[in-house]
Amino acid sequence: MSTSADLHDPQQELIDGFSIFAPPPGFYESPYPYYRALREREPVHENADGSYYLTRYEDVRRVYRTKSMTSDKTEMFTKKYGPGPLLEQHTTSMLFSDPPYHTRIRNLLRHAFTPRALAQLEHRVVDLVDNLIERCREQGGMDLVLDFAFPLPVEVICSMLGIDTSERERLQEWSRLILTPLEPTATPEMVAEGNQAVTEFSAFLRDLLAEKRVNMARGVRAGDILEDLINSQDSEDDPLTEDELVQNCILLLNGGHETTTNLVGNGMKAMFDSPDQLRALQQDPSLIGSAIEEMLRFDSPLQIGNRGIAEPFEVGGITLTTGTQVLTSIGGANHDPEAFDNPDVFDIARTPNKHLAFAAGIHACIGAPLARMEGTIAIGKLVAAFPEIERTGPVSRGGRARFRGLTSMPVSV
Ligand code: HEM
Repeated sequence: MSTSADLHDPQQELIDGFSIFAPPPGFYESPYPYYRALREREPVHENADGSYYLTRYEDVRRVYRTKSMTSDKTEMFTKKYGPGPLLEQHTTSMLFSDPPYHTRIRNLLRHAFTPRALAQLEHRVVDLVDNLIERCREQGGMDLVLDFAFPLPVEVICSMLGIDTSERERLQEWSRLILTPLEPTATPEMVAEGNQAVTEFSAFLRDLLAEKRVNMARGVRAGDILEDLINSQDSEDDPLTEDELVQNCILLLNGGHETTTNLVGNGMKAMFDSPDQLRALQQDPSLIGSAIEEMLRFDSPLQIGNRGIAEPFEVGGITLTTGTQVLTSIGGANHDPEAFDNPDVFDIARTPNKHLAFAAGIHACIGAPLARMEGTIAIGKLVAAFPEIERTGPVSRGGRARFRGLTSMPVSV
């Protein structure tokens, strides 16, 4: 005879009625038990809208590497946002496009991430981090997210594009408003705010481009990447149009700052939660490279990707038909025991570490070398400067499933 105790199945309870579009209470705090239950019970989980949510490493990797997958979201975004600036932004950005358009834009934006371009930015990152650390030292502590992880990446991208860093707060707000409607739980208000933000951000960039052109015509050069991109409009066979340039600069600004903030915030939280790992890095700074990779894996800054099925695709014994949308769980894949030993253990010496935090395939993050550089300098310098650094209060969370990050984490030094 079965008893209620026999029927109690905690794994199943986590996924009964699970929807990534309306995650259960507790999901934002820790999504990993849900990912685990999904991986074990329903690795190809059908969502209420007919899309699928994949949580196994190999399945997610295969989706990213399959050439026939489409990133073009014109149909989906037209339904979700209707016509307007937000639709134009997300359909002109290379992130949501396929070859040949994607290849053309990506090749042009590569200018921003050459070793030469990154080397030029490195001293800027070092200066910024040193200043933030000095301010923290004077105050005896800080909010590690608000005062450290948040200002750094946006100032770096401002430097990269030659934007005055006094504009930082406006850019961060526009960026937040443009990215929020990508969340599975977007509301009409979020879409309206996103439309307004794209309008304002585009106008700002158009003015900036006009100003740079005037200066360049006068022979006044600042040496930033925006000037290279303007120059490429004259020299390439198939140059970026003004709209493509503006929309893809918005993508660079949006893609590069919140994710990097989340790397630093989530990474340091993981260290505070495993103090032995924090001490290990302080004792052996040469571990910083593998530590950053482990932070990217353990609590990935971006947790969900999307692809469309353009040719029938078999996964987990199910054939997904053309037109089906797939959501990839980067967080689920990066905790899959089939790919990582003891995946729920934070181990800064973990090698190899083939995480999917930057995705894979043709859309793999173009900014990954910059993100790694920023993370290495920021976290390496922070833990070296403050041997006694510790968390002094509870963290606050953004409450978003795709962009996983903290909004506050007080520390003393
Ligand atoms: C830790 C920090 C970062 C993480 C975790 C991250 C993650 C990702 C992921 C997962 C993708 C693939 C999205 C998809 O196709 O579904 C992506 C693409 C992209 N990322 Fe990042 N990113 C980071 C930092 C940056 C930075 C610093 C920049 C630029 C300044 C940047 C710019 C981009 C762009 C432009 C794409 C689109 C690439 C394409 O479509 O070919 N990212 N990123």
